[in-house]
Amino acid sequence: MPDSADKRDPKSKVQHIEACLTPEVEYKKTTGFERYDFVSNALPEVSLEAIDLSTSLVGKELSAPLMISPMTGGVDRGHDINRTLARGAEKYRLPMGVGSQRVGIEDTERAQFFKVREEAPSTLIFANIGAVQLNKGWGAEHAQRAVDMIEADALFLHLNPMQEAIQGGDQDFVGLADRIKSVVKELDRSGVPVFVREVGFGMSQDAAKRLIDTGVAGIDCAGAGGTSWARVEGICAKSERRRVMGTIFGEWGVPTTESILNVRAVSSRIPLIATGGLRSGIDVAKAIALGADIGSMARPMLVAADQGDEALARFIEQTLEELRVCMFGIGANSVEELKGNTHLHPVV
Ligand SMILES: Cc1cc2nc3c(=O)[nH]c(=O)nc-3n(C[C@H](O)[C@H](O)[C@H](O)COP(=O)(O)O)c2cc1C
Repeated sequence: MPDSADKRDPKSKVQHIEACLTPEVEYKKTTGFERYDFVSNALPEVSLEAIDLSTSLVGKELSAPLMISPMTGGVDRGHDINRTLARGAEKYRLPMGVGSQRVGIEDTERAQFFKVREEAPSTLIFANIGAVQLNKGWGAEHAQRAVDMIEADALFLHLNPMQEAIQGGDQDFVGLADRIKSVVKELDRSGVPVFVREVGFGMSQDAAKRLIDTGVAGIDCAGAGGTSWARVEGICAKSERRRVMGTIFGEWGVPTTESILNVRAVSSRIPLIATGGLRSGIDVAKAIALGADIGSMARPMLVAADQGDEALARFIEQTLEELRVCMFGIGANSVEELKGNTHLHPVV
């Protein structure tokens, strides 16, 4: 389509970053976290200092259940941000993902702009490609190349039908579940766990069930209430028509709390990352009490990383402190005790 944003154009990557540094990209509707409250525990039998935030994902030890969501790469500016994020991830032993590596696979010269292993030699890193590429001739070999490109431990296949529709990008999602299944199987042979993630429009029970049936190692159910990818595409659009589409669909999506509950309604065991509008340590705690294993943040990490290492460190420490105090307030000693915690109640 003539008016579509070309994702291979370095300018579009920078535009996404610039747009996401402004609050205009946020949903007006909420995640639903405000509809839940923790009941304060006056007698927690817990020492704040002794609270253990450590956890693990795909067999890797993490210091806390907080992830840096996949965002960028492929251009200088994106690489700088990713390297800052990677240093933060390594320092606090948190998992992180890089943004879609399509440009790095199509243009090997741009692969270097995704590399972050030097800054994060030991922490859990996810590679990332769009699942829809599997309908355009890509297969397990491309997926493995994305993993090898950044020496990742795991792979995200992202699902973004609504973003593609508004952007005028790749819009044929027919038969994707079968193709995802085959990539999951192939990468399993080389020991690479494949997670599937939404980019922020959330997950229905039906979609979650069909994904789990493909054998995925985990899901990131990124829901609505934080960064609206319809709004981002509308702001970055070149044509008036697509700008209007961004506004009309700006509120589209399953709120993050429902998205978590939808996945948990079909599987109590699938490793689950919750993204979309988590804006504090209390949101992370609520996401986990609702059923997620890990809470993840994109835009707040971007805004902090854009200001440099110290700002990112301050933000991460603040968020972890909020999470710890929240756990103290309900008497949860560990992440295990936070999962399915009975102190979380719907606000009446
Ligand atoms: C600048 C930016 C770029 C992003 N690019 C990608 C991407 O390439 N692949 C992907 O899976 N998600 C991408 N995302 C989506 C985030 O990972 C996340 O799902 C979404 O922004 C909702 O989280 P938030 O409300 O904390 O921002 C991007 C987010 C931002 C802010």
